[in-house]
Amino acid sequence: MKLIRSIRRDIQAVFEHDPAARNAWEVFFVYPGFHARQCHRLAHTLWNWRIPFFPRLISHIGRFLTGIEIHPGAKIGEGFFIDHGMGVVIGETSEIRDNVALYQGVTLGGTSLLKKKRHPTLGNNVVVGAGAKLIGAITIGDNVKVGAGSVVITSVPANATVVGVPGRVVEIRNPDTDTVEKLPDPVWEKLENLEKKVAALERALRDMRPKAKTTAKRSPSEKTDESI
Ligand SMILES: CC(C)(COP(=O)(O)OP(=O)(O)OC[C@H]1O[C@@H](n2cnc3c(N)ncnc32)[C@H](O)[C@@H]1OP(=O)(O)O)[C@@H](O)C(=O)NCCC(=O)NCCS
Repeated sequence: MKLIRSIRRDIQAVFEHDPAARNAWEVFFVYPGFHARQCHRLAHTLWNWRIPFFPRLISHIGRFLTGIEIHPGAKIGEGFFIDHGMGVVIGETSEIRDNVALYQGVTLGGTSLLKKKRHPTLGNNVVVGAGAKLIGAITIGDNVKVGAGSVVITSVPANATVVGVPGRVVEIRNPDTDTVEKLPDPVWEKLENLEKKVAALERALRDMRPKAKTTAKRSPSEKTDESI
């Protein structure tokens, strides 16, 4: 019963994240993210029973059919959704809590070659945009949004929006008041300061120019006067 409830929750997650989904049959038969998730259920169960070889084989068949590679050791919560799927890679020690959505090309990758926790942990309600790379044993807080194409290499606090390469927090939502605080971009601020300095220097140079010209014109004649 728990299994059926959990599979139903996966189908519901598709409707929550994909406006293109029409009915449960469609989700059941033509959503690769759903298929990859169900392959992983079986592979992960066998992995926990310490059965050799077969978990990796099931994971490989799932990858062959869907283009989504989920290591059997990865822990995945309820209501998990992968849209389109192709190119998604989820490493062995990744942990994904409930209601997480990943788009195509997302990597939850490791940085260490040691057999230890080396992949990201994603909190509840996290959304990771297409092509984003989350690297290392970092923690992504609850309700975080990761922008498409971002490369996130450090942990991200809850309710944040992180974008860019390397990933930078640009917004933090306050869930109590439902307000958004935009954070300043330090690189942009430095560029603006530089622009102001260049403008000030240009002004100073312009003020100096007529004097320089007068001095330059006057000096030969002055010299001539002196020579006479
Ligand atoms: C990150 C994301 C969730 C942000 O959505 P949001 O909360 O509505 O935030 P905003 O659109 O207000 O963006 C906030 C800031 O981040 C910037 N930003 C948003 N997405 C970005 C991205 N992928 N890369 C770089 N900057 C991005 C915006 O320009 C904005 O900057 P500004 O405040 O200087 O104008 C969204 O932009 C995104 O990338 N979603 C993934 C969608 C996806 O992968 N779809 C695939 C479907 S197949």
